[in-house]
Amino acid sequence: MMNCLQSWPEPVVRVQSLSESGIRAIPDRYIKPPSDRPGFENQEHVDIPVVDLKNLFSHDRTLHEETLKLISSACKEWGFFQAVNHGISHELMKRTREVWREFFNSPLEVKQEYANAPTTYEGYGSRLGVQKGAILDWSDYFFLHYLPVHLRNPSKWPSLPSSCRDLISEYGAEVVKLCGRLLKAMSISLGLKEDYLQNAFGGEDIGACLRVNFYPKCPQPDLTLGLSSHSDPGGMTLLLPDHDIAGLQVRKNGKWITVKPVPNAFIVNVGDQIQVMSNAIYKSVEHRVIVNSVKDRVSLAFFCNPQSDLLIEPAKELVSEDRPALYSPMTFDEYRLYIRTYGPRGKTQVEFSGSNR
Ligand code: OGA
Ligand code: NI
Repeated sequence: MMNCLQSWPEPVVRVQSLSESGIRAIPDRYIKPPSDRPGFENQEHVDIPVVDLKNLFSHDRTLHEETLKLISSACKEWGFFQAVNHGISHELMKRTREVWREFFNSPLEVKQEYANAPTTYEGYGSRLGVQKGAILDWSDYFFLHYLPVHLRNPSKWPSLPSSCRDLISEYGAEVVKLCGRLLKAMSISLGLKEDYLQNAFGGEDIGACLRVNFYPKCPQPDLTLGLSSHSDPGGMTLLLPDHDIAGLQVRKNGKWITVKPVPNAFIVNVGDQIQVMSNAIYKSVEHRVIVNSVKDRVSLAFFCNPQSDLLIEPAKELVSEDRPALYSPMTFDEYRLYIRTYGPRGKTQVEFSGSNR
């Protein structure tokens, strides 16, 4: 690992502490250039597609195919959809989100025991990227490894609330199962064998991490972002948003669309690795998070990734003379070093790597 990634370049400031200190003006470090600030551009009356998964593997061929079509067009045109009837207990989703809210609401000293470093990012963090003097986002987070099992270390997960570790395990197992069903659906709708994507991710041994984002109330939400524009570097993300507060925005035709969370839905999005494997038939799409002055927001982003040392490249079946491979092989470990060094920067990486890697 590069030397510069061993520790943070500056003392870490917890955004939640800043927010709770009662400041009226946010420090300059969080003020975005005018072109990146939230604006009035998101007044569109459109939303990302909602896909009902009830019939995903129905024996009724027509219903099954209809669902696959909806997933496919959402992945091509939006890179995002909200999944309902996904099979995961709503009660489990709610309890898991609430236990994390309790963690973030516990005393600072408790959270500091889990303070993270940029070597692995595991633990309690407040920035993404290690560039000194970077403009920061208005959020704190907790990051942990769920799979592969040899990277899973529950002793690094919060021990309080006492149900936290068990809930992470139970929630993780359910989300990994759902991810498997979606990978199957995406493989079939790309015209690949149904286990293609799962195998390309490493079979049983995929990578999976959880990032729980905490977006504190912000006295000047018009000047900053909770999370800067980025596409997710991994395979596929299943996001559990807060139940009654919007915050996520998705970029569509150059405009920012604010997602209105459907109750109990998961927000599913395509990551850069599926864009690469599908030879850009499916797109990872830029998204960002806005904050507000009224309410804290918690979201759980569960990232399903290829095993970190596998070479990721476009599926041979999706490469032809007319549509040559747009990406050359690279491991996910090499790939994610970029966001871990420079922080979130739109889609620059997958676009850059398309012509140069
Ligand atoms: C992420 C992400 C969106 C949100 O964690 O990568 O895009 O609403 N989160 O928190
Ligand atoms: Ni994201």
